[in-house]
Amino acid sequence: MNLEFHKTDFLVIGSGVAGLRAAIALSDAGKVMVLAKSAVSEGSTECAQGGVAVAMSDDDEIVIHEQDTLRAGASLCNPEAVRILVNEGPRRIAELIEWGASFDTEDGKLWFSLEGAHSRRRVIHSRGDSTGAEIERVLLEKAEALENVSIVDHWFTIDLLIQEGSCSGALVVARSDPSRIVCIQAKATVLATGGAGQVYAATTNPSVSTGDGISIAFRAGAEISDMEFVQFHPTTLHKEGVPVFLLSEAMRGEGGVLLNAMGERFMPDAHPEAELAPRDIVSRAIITEMRRTGTDEIYLDLRHFKPGFVKSRFPRIYETCLGYGLKADEELLPIHPAAHYMMGGVRSDVNGRTTIPGLLACGEVACAGVHGANRLASNSLLEGVVFGRRAGESARDSISVPAAFSEAPARDFLKELESVVEVHSSEILLGRERIRGIMWEHVGIVRDPEGLQIARRELEKLSHIAGVVSADPKALEARNIFYTAALIRYAAERRTESRGAHFRADFPKQDDENWLVHKSLSSETSLQEILS
Ligand code: FAD
Ligand code: SIN
Repeated sequence: MNLEFHKTDFLVIGSGVAGLRAAIALSDAGKVMVLAKSAVSEGSTECAQGGVAVAMSDDDEIVIHEQDTLRAGASLCNPEAVRILVNEGPRRIAELIEWGASFDTEDGKLWFSLEGAHSRRRVIHSRGDSTGAEIERVLLEKAEALENVSIVDHWFTIDLLIQEGSCSGALVVARSDPSRIVCIQAKATVLATGGAGQVYAATTNPSVSTGDGISIAFRAGAEISDMEFVQFHPTTLHKEGVPVFLLSEAMRGEGGVLLNAMGERFMPDAHPEAELAPRDIVSRAIITEMRRTGTDEIYLDLRHFKPGFVKSRFPRIYETCLGYGLKADEELLPIHPAAHYMMGGVRSDVNGRTTIPGLLACGEVACAGVHGANRLASNSLLEGVVFGRRAGESARDSISVPAAFSEAPARDFLKELESVVEVHSSEILLGRERIRGIMWEHVGIVRDPEGLQIARRELEKLSHIAGVVSADPKALEARNIFYTAALIRYAAERRTESRGAHFRADFPKQDDENWLVHKSLSSETSLQEILS
């Protein structure tokens, strides 16, 4: 085992929209090191399809975008964060266009699409359904051209370094050589590790979304907030032997409808906005319809679109479906909801500051309250550019430098690592899959006390995973999945009401009298307490 020491001014963990935008904002303040645990562009940003919601069309207004976001958030948004999102959004998008981003146009103007719970057409997109890939490309090109920014791929952050109560950097393992442990000392660290969809057996998220940032920050003592709010996307392709694949909400925005096993529409009876109701409502209506009809057959129907429209408007989705043997414009597409987005996360203010000095958070890992209990479609890429920049700007003023940097935590970790005789990797990996199954079955779209208790007991049986000491990223991810799952379950049990994406069968109503609050957890809440 080798221990290396690196020094940078600013460390940004994550190279998606939020991390890259933060790095760009920091680039004139000192040396910035950006880490990615896999390939640089692997993350949710690259996968994003529908687009970016931004109030820039002639018939839209910033205040209407604000109202839609607040309404979707079910009274739990931080109004200041929402105001910042919608007001700064247009400037951040104009900046992306200036840097070379190409968004689709119609008659020479930006082409605005409709998605669920938006009262205006306001979602801009690129190459139809490759919006995230375009934003990632532009930000990456911009960041790579900056002299002060270096981007290192395949470096996995194990834990944060905390000294005198402040964050002084991170401990990292190089994937290409797990015997290489790197201690990175930084004056401020920005956490931008993305979401946690992989905590669930069925998810739209890429394999990197294992809740690392939430788990790392929790172990470091940061406050974690609103973990019960996990968004389930209603429409993912559901075919035997085919991986979960998102069928963008924009397809329903263009007129796609949902049909049950008998070929009937059921959403008009479930909500006045039918297929374009908020995501939590559509996902629950699908589950209810499956139970009512006694099958798990629900379909997305695009067959009524003009010939050639699906292929030209959604080329990536069309080609992917074709690869799985489905003609999206001629056949019904079997669908099922899947875990999609984490509204909760590392509690931060509107400038990305967390409860640990020297540690900032932005993007999906952060919880500044911008999405409340339920995120409005296509508000996340916007959040990434708006709050990524703000976290970068405020990191310069959040510098925390201990009197003397201590090498002790890194050396202790190495000693512990060297003393581990045997890591039962296969057992840990089986445990990881077990957790994902438990969460899907018992802490999913509809939660009830029995299920939450079963999940608690099952997680307790797997609690040895919380103590994994390893340099193997897969085992370390299993540990992070365990922590994140335990936090979600605990928060879901604690909130005895239904609000936004959190639905309790035993408390089906929203309870503003008792639950108009954000609930936080920190490492003062021990794992034992969370599992008891
Ligand atoms: P990500 O883009 O996920 O990046 C995370 C980064 O952190 C990666 O570089 C990863 O390597 C790194 N990382 C993670 N853990 C570690 C570690 N331990 N060590 C080092 N590095 C680490 N939102 C919209 O607004 N519009 C859409 O159309 C849309 N479509 C979506 C479609 C799909 C299929 C998915 C999954 C999400 C979609 N979303 C959409 C949500 C949105 O894409 C994400 O919320 C957003 O891109 C998150 O950006 P991020 O920068 O926070 O994280
Ligand atoms: C989609 O295209 O349906 C995803 C949009 C989002 O998650 O905001």
